[in-house]
Amino acid sequence: MKFQALPLVERKRDGQALGPEEIAGLVAAYVGGDVPDYQMAAFLMAVTIRGMTFDETVALTGAMLRSGRTIEVSARRPLVDKHSTGGVGDKTSLVAVPLLAALGFCVPKLSGRGLGHTGGTLDKLESIPGLRTSLDPAEFATLVSRYGLAIAAQSEDIVPADRLLYALRDVTGTVPSLPLIASSIMSKKLAVSSRLILLDVKVGDGAFFPDEATAAEFAQLAIAIGRSFGRDTRALLTRMDAPLGLAVGNALEVREAVACLQGQGPEDLRDVAVTLAAEALHAVYGLGRDDAGQRAWQALESGEAYQLFRRWIPSQGGDVTFLEQPDRWPKAAATGVSRATRDGYVHAIGARAVGEAARLAGAGRLRKEDAVDAAAGVEILAPLGSEVRAGQEVLEVHASGSEQLAAALERLERVVEIADEPPQLENAVVCAFDKNGRREEW
Ligand code: URA
Repeated sequence: MKFQALPLVERKRDGQALGPEEIAGLVAAYVGGDVPDYQMAAFLMAVTIRGMTFDETVALTGAMLRSGRTIEVSARRPLVDKHSTGGVGDKTSLVAVPLLAALGFCVPKLSGRGLGHTGGTLDKLESIPGLRTSLDPAEFATLVSRYGLAIAAQSEDIVPADRLLYALRDVTGTVPSLPLIASSIMSKKLAVSSRLILLDVKVGDGAFFPDEATAAEFAQLAIAIGRSFGRDTRALLTRMDAPLGLAVGNALEVREAVACLQGQGPEDLRDVAVTLAAEALHAVYGLGRDDAGQRAWQALESGEAYQLFRRWIPSQGGDVTFLEQPDRWPKAAATGVSRATRDGYVHAIGARAVGEAARLAGAGRLRKEDAVDAAAGVEILAPLGSEVRAGQEVLEVHASGSEQLAAALERLERVVEIADEPPQLENAVVCAFDKNGRREEW
């Protein structure tokens, strides 16, 4: 007889805790094709509403991890992995991963695609012509030892349970759940033999954790899961009230990340990438945070991280000449702008609405089978704190077609708040959590 998922769905719906064997059975049967998507979607919704105990979350993480192979990377340098909980305009990995490699770490990174209103590193990278994120475990390990970094997708061999659950969660309203996010991220991170797992926990309107208390709870949960698998896991809390940088959408974000690696680009993006790299130096070598920050800053400013990025892109099939020829970047089928409603200073740019608008414009998926449009997204023309006049263009939408453009522009109505006084701009990094889950100020 086939695996019976229905009783587990019903018990979770009623708020009961499931045992580790039940969770393992459900995950294995789903990956084996014995549980249909509609029952798994119902289970995920029950978890999103009812939650999971710590033991259940560890069991789910372990079951997802065991759905595929684990990858041993042999490298003489310390292996460090970095993962974000998801944000809008969050192209941090594209900068932080080569920066970590430039600082002497090896970075074997399994990433995700767009999820809900947030973008995903894989979709961003795939806007570079030829770039492959589907690597088998042996190729992935070889690239990491040879180039110091590799970024790959979940596959039939690598955490297949996350590959399937991730795509299902994206289109069933079951993303914002602490246990589902924690098990998704940690199963990918534990699948690779990294010495340090560094989490960028986003907090704010555009994140899956709207306030500091929830973000801290998540950081401590993920760190505790890491500890229960014997791994050093740490976290930074970083702000996601406004989009990170000025570009939201796949190719637009790659362009901004490249600018950042070339020593330009927005300050908030540089701050987050440099702080993450510094946290790795602090955790692995015990460097003081100021020293670590300076070393990381220098590796970015000197162009070392960019040189590494340029060497690495072709190793995964990407056309590196494309990065330096702006006229070859994909162009959206339709573009339009939203304008300032009054004179004043840009006080807030709602990150969630911008992420949702980018998704509607074609940068993300509304159904599992949707393709993403590399050119689609939203550009911020008037950054936070800038002075604007009524009627001035503040946001530009790049869309796959006129319908998508209209939907995105409608979503962006009243998203840019304008006030008489400039806002108080806050640091992008809020605080850190050490391997025991203790909060530390940066
Ligand atoms: N990143 C992931 O890999 N999974 C999530 O659920 C959220 C962010």
